[in-house]
Amino acid sequence: MVNRCSKLVLVCVVSFFLLIDCTVEQQFLVSRQERLALLQLRSSLGLRAKEWPLKSDPCTAWAGIKCTNGRVTVINVSGFKRTRKGSQNPQFLVDALQSFTFLSSFNASNLALPGSIPEWFGLRLGSLQVLDLRSCSIVGTIPFSLGNLSSLAELHLSDNNLTGIVPTSLGQLLLLSVLDLSQNSLTGLIPRTFSALGNLTFLDMSLNFFSGAIPLEIGTLSRLQYLNLSGNSLSSSIPAQLSDLSNLVDLDLSINSLLGSIPPGLRGLKNLQKLIIGNNFLSGTLPGDLFPPLTQLQHLVLSHNSFTGDFPVVLWSMPQLRFLDASRNNFTGTLPDLSLNANASVAVFNISQNFFYGNLTSVIRRLRFIDVSGNYLQGRVPDYASGNTPLSRNCLRNVASQRSASECASFYAERGLVFDNFGMPNGTQPLAPKSDKTHREVIILASVLGAAGLIALLAIVFVLLILCKRKTGATNQRSIGVGPVPANGSSPLGASLNFSSLGDAFTYKQILEATGEYSDLNLIKNGHSGDFFRGILENANPIVVKKFDLRSSVKKEAYMLELDLFSKVSHQRLVPLLGHCLENENEKFLIYKYMPNEDLSSSLFKKTNSDDGSLQSLDWITRLKIAIGAAEGLCYLHHECNPPFVHRDIQASSILLDDKFEVRLGSLSEICVQERDTNQNSITRLLRLPPSSDQGTSGMKNATCAYDVYCFGKVLLELVTGKLGISSSNDTTTKEWLEATLPYISIYDKELVTNIVDPSLIIDEDLLEEVWAMAIVARSCLNPKPTRRPLMRYILKALENPLKVVRDEQMSSARLRTTSSRGSWNAALFGSWRQSSSDVAAMPTAPSRKAEHANSFKHSGSDESGQNDGHGHSFSTKRHSNEIFPEPLNLQDVEREND
Ligand SMILES: *[C@@H]1O[C@H](CO)[C@@H](O)[C@H](O)[C@H]1NC(C)=O
Ligand SMILES: *[C@@H]1O[C@H](CO)[C@@H](O)[C@H](O)[C@H]1NC(C)=O
Ligand SMILES: *[C@@H]1O[C@H](CO)[C@@H](O)[C@H](O)[C@H]1NC(C)=O
Ligand SMILES: *[C@@H]1O[C@H](CO)[C@@H](O)[C@H](O)[C@H]1NC(C)=O
Ligand SMILES: *[C@@H]1O[C@H](CO)[C@@H](O)[C@H](O)[C@H]1NC(C)=O
Ligand SMILES: *[C@@H]1O[C@H](CO)[C@@H](O)[C@H](O)[C@H]1NC(C)=O
Ligand SMILES: *[C@@H]1O[C@H](CO)[C@@H](O)[C@H](O)[C@H]1NC(C)=O
Ligand SMILES: *[C@@H]1O[C@H](CO)[C@@H](O)[C@H](O)[C@H]1NC(C)=O
Repeated sequence: MVNRCSKLVLVCVVSFFLLIDCTVEQQFLVSRQERLALLQLRSSLGLRAKEWPLKSDPCTAWAGIKCTNGRVTVINVSGFKRTRKGSQNPQFLVDALQSFTFLSSFNASNLALPGSIPEWFGLRLGSLQVLDLRSCSIVGTIPFSLGNLSSLAELHLSDNNLTGIVPTSLGQLLLLSVLDLSQNSLTGLIPRTFSALGNLTFLDMSLNFFSGAIPLEIGTLSRLQYLNLSGNSLSSSIPAQLSDLSNLVDLDLSINSLLGSIPPGLRGLKNLQKLIIGNNFLSGTLPGDLFPPLTQLQHLVLSHNSFTGDFPVVLWSMPQLRFLDASRNNFTGTLPDLSLNANASVAVFNISQNFFYGNLTSVIRRLRFIDVSGNYLQGRVPDYASGNTPLSRNCLRNVASQRSASECASFYAERGLVFDNFGMPNGTQPLAPKSDKTHREVIILASVLGAAGLIALLAIVFVLLILCKRKTGATNQRSIGVGPVPANGSSPLGASLNFSSLGDAFTYKQILEATGEYSDLNLIKNGHSGDFFRGILENANPIVVKKFDLRSSVKKEAYMLELDLFSKVSHQRLVPLLGHCLENENEKFLIYKYMPNEDLSSSLFKKTNSDDGSLQSLDWITRLKIAIGAAEGLCYLHHECNPPFVHRDIQASSILLDDKFEVRLGSLSEICVQERDTNQNSITRLLRLPPSSDQGTSGMKNATCAYDVYCFGKVLLELVTGKLGISSSNDTTTKEWLEATLPYISIYDKELVTNIVDPSLIIDEDLLEEVWAMAIVARSCLNPKPTRRPLMRYILKALENPLKVVRDEQMSSARLRTTSSRGSWNAALFGSWRQSSSDVAAMPTAPSRKAEHANSFKHSGSDESGQNDGHGHSFSTKRHSNEIFPEPLNLQDVEREND
């Protein structure tokens, strides 16, 4: 120590510099020869003055240079940029290194050194302890002389283009602890001399072309913690000697041609956390006592081998195991019915493509994800197998894409096991999902046969329509509750109105002042039911005034409808009514709270404050919030009001937005009581006139909740695509646009939706799933068949849980045809989805309908008995759709009910 300090002082004095500038780490370069060598290296590698500035002292000021006692010991040029000249023709030109007698570390990783490692490396750099040349574009062979670097502790040569064999001389590097030769094109055998590398802790020879056997001698590397030989052509068995590597943490032998079975000795690897032996030709059974001693095991890959026999039950409950891939083997057995350890809830298992059989069990519930596809599991799919369980190609009931009955039956028969035949009696064909094609043929046939009957039916229906049109008109007027209204509109309002819920009474004078005598400047729009004006009250509160001219019977009816509505309902999702002014005989006014963000049609894209007039669009979070808010409003009208109200004018401009973009539904003057769900109304719905916005408020116009749902679907599509005006229009351009857009919405292909997503939306992968979900919801709302559209409350649920929509799809498809799907909102949604996509369920043929009927009955008799639906007698398709969709009607039902 004393000696060293005095040397230091000497150096400082000699250098004519102040003592305080001297530190142990940063001393000035004292060797003139080394200074020249550094300059030579700088120019041959083309390094920049930025890192290695000419005028400064290399030991103190050059990046990556470290000196000890005034001599260079560390050169780190890793990842350096080069001068323009230097990068034109980079070469492996490091001859200057020979001048550094004390060089212990050379790191040039990620610096292109095309060329080969010169032979002199091993002979002239005798003090080297660390040599890092990874990702240097080196070619050629590893020089034999590297074996003379007797001080070497770390040798990194990975990710180059090294060829040839590994020189046996590397076995002389007794101090070597890290040897990384991965990602090259090395060939030949793994040298047996490696057995001498007693200090080795890390050996990576992966992704080369090594062949032959794993040398038995590798078992002597008792300090080894990391061993990776994957991605070669090794073709031996796994040597039993590996079991001596008791410090091994990570063993990867995958993607080779290894044969034979796993040596039982492997259970000696008590510290093993990762064992990866997938993609080989390994076979045999796995001894049950192999894994329990491996208490640290977290990651186990056995996939793509030929393991047979019972799957070790212990693997289901290994304490640390987070990832298990046993797919593509010949494992067999049943799933255990056991409670797993606490960590299992984060574990991911893949046991697909094996020979597992029997029922799905609760073990599934305990895992974060398990793929069981391609086995022979049978029985019902329990509710908890939701979303996280690919189930295809098994023998399960009521799930799509299962094996054929004969395939399953013969599997079970060969093993002397009892097959439940999809819950059907022996010999009966199960209800396999038919292809679209057959269904379409059936539909065409049915249509042709039905056409004649339909014509007759239509005639009857037409007569009924005329009759009931009158009737319904009368009903609707009665429902207004403001007394009978003479056609000429001369009589004043009835006294039955409850004015207390209509806000303050404003004077006509107040209205005039607030609106500047209906100044054109304050006109917002001329609505079909009345004109809207902006206004400011005396207390400076902004308001919106709607003026109804009672001389128009249409506007008069609208006025009374709206007045009636506000007297009956109030909800935070409806536009707040501040008051009314009913003084004048022919002009009536309703006063609403002003909505700072106006409505969706004007807010979706807003001009930014900047001068360039660029548009800023609503972000996705806000769009989703708006969709949910509007759905809540509609849910209130459809499901919480009794009788249910139909809005009838849902479009972007009816969705008002307050300062926080909370939705308040406006345009309430079209609202009416939903037509009662009678047979008559159902028939009128069959012949529904095309919706048209200037059809006025005739009592017949689309007074069904399903019509609102359809309009809401268009609003959702506007939010997804940013295409303004879709929800306010029904013209052919809009229809064509819809026809062109809907095919991009698929439950099965998320990426498709990116073709229609609003380009101004900035969305990452996670949000894309929500966008996709909203698009799916929109498409189900746009089902051409009103009866197939989902109920508003299911839509709300779906929008509140968008990720569940896309992630649970598998599960809901499983439930769809079972009675247990009742009340499941996503099942309802996807029921509509499927029918809208293929319309297959619309017209089943008589025999298959009977079969389904029988099947459903069976369920109700056995395991479903706990789920009484309140009716308890009928499980037919019709009953099912009754539950999910508001209107129990499709063509067959009409036909049947007319039978
Ligand atoms: C090597 O140099 C690079 C770039 O200056 C630096 O990021 C890295 O940390 C250095 N590595 C060592 C081990 O000194
Ligand atoms: C070489 O440098 C790179 C990055 O600068 C660093 O990651 C690596 O660990 C270094 N090599 C050694 C052996 O320290
Ligand atoms: C490695 O060699 C292959 C073919 O010999 C060549 O295509 C590839 O570019 C080389 N890679 C590097 C990093 O030099
Ligand atoms: C290098 O090692 C070999 C043995 O592998 C030995 O024969 C040779 O003399 C050594 N060369 C030097 C310069 O040390
Ligand atoms: C491991 O390295 C030490 C020096 O650090 C050396 O003395 C010993 O011989 C080496 N062990 C083996 C088995 O070569
Ligand atoms: C594994 O199963 C496949 C498919 O049945 C069969 O062809 C193969 O012979 C089986 N392998 C073993 C080792 O049993
Ligand atoms: C499998 O599930 C069915 C119902 O799907 C049940 O009847 C049967 O008892 C179960 N079998 C076993 C072995 O648990
Ligand atoms: C179904 O077939 C199996 C043999 O394939 C037979 O053991 C069983 O008794 C049959 N069950 C019925 C209900 O016919």
